[in-house]
Amino acid sequence: MSFSAALRLISVSTVLLLLCGSSCGSNASVPLVIWHGMGDSCCNPLSMGAMKKMVEEEVPGIYVISLMIGKSVLQDTENGFFMDVNEQVSFVCDQLSKDPKLKGGYNAMGFSQGSQFLRAVTQRCPDPPMKNLISVGGQHQGVFGLPRCPGESSHICDWIRKKLNSGAYTDAIQKHLVQAQYWHDPLNDDLYKKYSLFLADINQERVVNETYKKNLMSLNKFVMVKFLQDTMVDPVDSEWFGFYKAGQGKELETLQESAIYKEDRLGLAEMDSAGKLVFLASDGDHLQFTRQWFNENLLPYIR
Ligand SMILES: *[C@@H]1O[C@H](CO)[C@@H](O)[C@H](O)[C@H]1NC(C)=O
Ligand SMILES: *[C@@H]1O[C@H](CO)[C@@H](O)[C@H](O)[C@H]1NC(C)=O
Repeated sequence: MSFSAALRLISVSTVLLLLCGSSCGSNASVPLVIWHGMGDSCCNPLSMGAMKKMVEEEVPGIYVISLMIGKSVLQDTENGFFMDVNEQVSFVCDQLSKDPKLKGGYNAMGFSQGSQFLRAVTQRCPDPPMKNLISVGGQHQGVFGLPRCPGESSHICDWIRKKLNSGAYTDAIQKHLVQAQYWHDPLNDDLYKKYSLFLADINQERVVNETYKKNLMSLNKFVMVKFLQDTMVDPVDSEWFGFYKAGQGKELETLQESAIYKEDRLGLAEMDSAGKLVFLASDGDHLQFTRQWFNENLLPYIR
């Protein structure tokens, strides 16, 4: 190749590099998938809509999907109460696998129950790959109480509470009530393990599915945010994967003290040793944090 041809080649690649800017090569930002919490929807301008906008402002050019479960915002909100969680997870897996922009992988951020649902997505559907999972007030060991419900949903919650108390682990209630699927009754631990259709499955209570383990362990980071003044989640420790010790509803155990960790049924102990588990705290009520707190604590896992 002649000297001038070589020079031309160099300048062409320089121009390409300049044109490319931050939108190509390794600098392109990783897409973000968001799953909202109970009583909320993909697109509420005061919650997930604002969150999407904020992330887009902080990370220019980022591709953000706020998941809508169903065909409309109304359906999305209703499905957060009444659509079988396993079906919701399949619905999301399908949507993500068909999105060409996610081929290279994505980060995921769940709010409240959306966090444990996204964990199921990574455990069951490794393609496209999830990189970081950020759980914002998620209940990874479920709940044993619905002390308060967000916003206008309180009448629905009163009804749900009645249903859960009348028999959370009956087939009819398991299939049709989202909150029953992560209802964890420590006083009836055997019933929970046997009949919980969602949480007991993803937490490997019945069998250890090596695929779940392998898939979860392939995350770069699993970040769990706990709200220190949380009045909606019982027990709040579930946000850090802790729970009541089996057989009673007072004494708590941390993730590190629990069987799922000690027997390493899900790979969490190995992830912990590898520095993949991040435990963060925010000093507010459920899902309450400032933009500054978000930028300092969560943004680094999204950029
Ligand atoms: C990519 O990011 C690095 C580090 O932030 C920066 O130095 C470099 O100029 C960026 N490259 C492009 C093509 O934007
Ligand atoms: C383990 O999980 C994978 C992914 O969801 C599933 O395809 C497989 O059937 C499960 N295996 C068992 C033994 O449950």
